[in-house]
Amino acid sequence: MRFVIALFTAGLLIHLVEAQTPPADQIPINTPYVATPPEVVDAMLDLAKVSARDTIFDLGCGDGRIVIEAAAKYGARGVGIDLNPDRIEEARANAAKAGVADLVRFEAKDLFDADISDATVVALYLLPEANLRLRSRLTTELKPGTRIVSHSFDMGDWKPDQQKLFGGAHLYLWTVHPK
Ligand SMILES: C[S@@+](CC[C@H](N)C(=O)[O-])C[C@H]1O[C@@H](n2cnc3c(N)ncnc32)[C@H](O)[C@@H]1O
Repeated sequence: MRFVIALFTAGLLIHLVEAQTPPADQIPINTPYVATPPEVVDAMLDLAKVSARDTIFDLGCGDGRIVIEAAAKYGARGVGIDLNPDRIEEARANAAKAGVADLVRFEAKDLFDADISDATVVALYLLPEANLRLRSRLTTELKPGTRIVSHSFDMGDWKPDQQKLFGGAHLYLWTVHPK
């Protein structure tokens, strides 16, 4: 009888744990805030050949420096998305200070919920597991020809079109293929 009760309790516990554990693709990935140094920002924009025709999205934009520099240097449009509202406030203030508030916008939200379909360039500086989780959305939601530029981390077995080491930082570039 004791054995049956132990088995029942174990089954109940497993059921409770399973019920409370979100699916793997919904477990939050907390990429910490580390800003890309200005010279690396310039190298990323250069690698992605950003121009005034582009709309660059920075998924996890921090203080907005990547899209602000793209707007200030090339006249590109930009969208920055960050989970942290303090960062977004900072980014908006920085855009105003740089005189590019009319070219960029910042949204406080989860990048995994963001509509990224308007991007022609996507900038990333996220943890490897966040990059991997984004892969399917990047291929299905981005237009063919959109460039993806990542600071430090690759995309698993996606072969980059270009890869370079700049001032100690690994940079990767991919282009979205036709569907
Ligand atoms: C390593 S920092 C990069 C900041 C900026 N892109 C740069 O290169 O300077 C990563 C940023 O992603 C943000 N972040 C992390 N997870 C996020 C999520 N799920 N949705 C939106 N932003 C996120 C963090 O708040 C942080 O500001």
